[in-house]
Order: sequence, then structure tokens, then C-alpha cells
Amino acid sequence: MATTATQLSVLFVCLGNICRSPTAHGVFAKLVEQAGYSDLIQVDSAGTGDWHLDHAPDQRTAQVAAAKGYDLSGLRARLVTSADFNQFDYIIAMDNANLKDLRAMQPEGYAGHLGLFLDFSEQSAVQEVPDPYYGGEDGFELVFGLVEDASRGLLRHIQSSHPQALGL
Ligand code: 4NP
Repeated sequence: MATTATQLSVLFVCLGNICRSPTAHGVFAKLVEQAGYSDLIQVDSAGTGDWHLDHAPDQRTAQVAAAKGYDLSGLRARLVTSADFNQFDYIIAMDNANLKDLRAMQPEGYAGHLGLFLDFSEQSAVQEVPDPYYGGEDGFELVFGLVEDASRGLLRHIQSSHPQALGL
């Protein structure tokens, strides 16, 4: 399903595509790069809501990420569409509302993986990445920690599930 050069593709989805999914996009893409898989795994993010189309990540999100060494400034919000199901092997929702919206647009016969990001978490007992938008600074730090943990778990899952695609 991933296009031409890439072997696998991952799409992170939240509500606005300016806080949680751009964080996941940036953190996971860096892990992929550090593992030497940049040419093999395509990473993207999108939102189910259209309030912030073409906007850069929320300033609070960008600041927390920058403090940890991640530059999210090149990302721009976009809407998830049913066409994404033709392109992405993994479509990863931040919370159950995102997952419900994605299930409603999922074409019949989608052969990829549609599920919650924190299913890949190795440390957290919580199921959802909480929406930080209307909360305080702590919420953005919490999101970042959950995303780092689940990103590591997702990469390990992909390595064990698709060794051939990654030349392992
Ligand atoms: P995100 O956070 O889904 O993590 O990007 C939100 C951003 C904006 C809004 C809600 C959540 N909003 O209502 O505008």
C-alpha cells in the first residue's frame, strides 16, 4: 500500500492536527530516521476536524517538542480523508473519538491497521492520548511523554511484524 520507494506508511490522526498527531509525526519520524529507515517508512499526520487547515503546530506543542530536540515547524495541518486508507498501512488514532470517526470513513476491505496509538505503549496503562488544547502546560508535557513511549513501541512492532520490508 505504501507508494513506490517506501515499503510501509504510517498516518497519525487526532482532532485538530496541531497538537497530538504532529507530535507523534515528529517524534516517530525521528525514531525512523535514527533507525535508518527513512527511505522505507513514510510518516504523516492529519486531523478529523477542519478548524486549523494549513496551520503550523500549536505554539505550546512546538515549544515542548523543541525543548526535547524536535523541530515541528515544517508541519501543516490537513484533513484525513477516505483516500488515506488507500495509501497508509497504519492509521493510528490518538483517542477513541478519533478512532470512531476513522472507522466511519474506513472503506470496506481496508487491509491495514486501524487502531489506538497507546495500544503500542510499553509503559502507560492509559488508553488514549488526552486532548491538551484547552488545558495547561502540563497537558502538553504529558502528551509528549505518552507519544515518545508509544512511538518506541510502534517501531518495535513494525520491526517484528515486517522484517522483510525493513531488510531485517
Ligand atoms: P489536537 O488538539 O487534536 O491534538 O490537534 C486540538 C486542537 C484544536 C482543537 C481541538 C483539539 N480545536 O478545537 O480547535
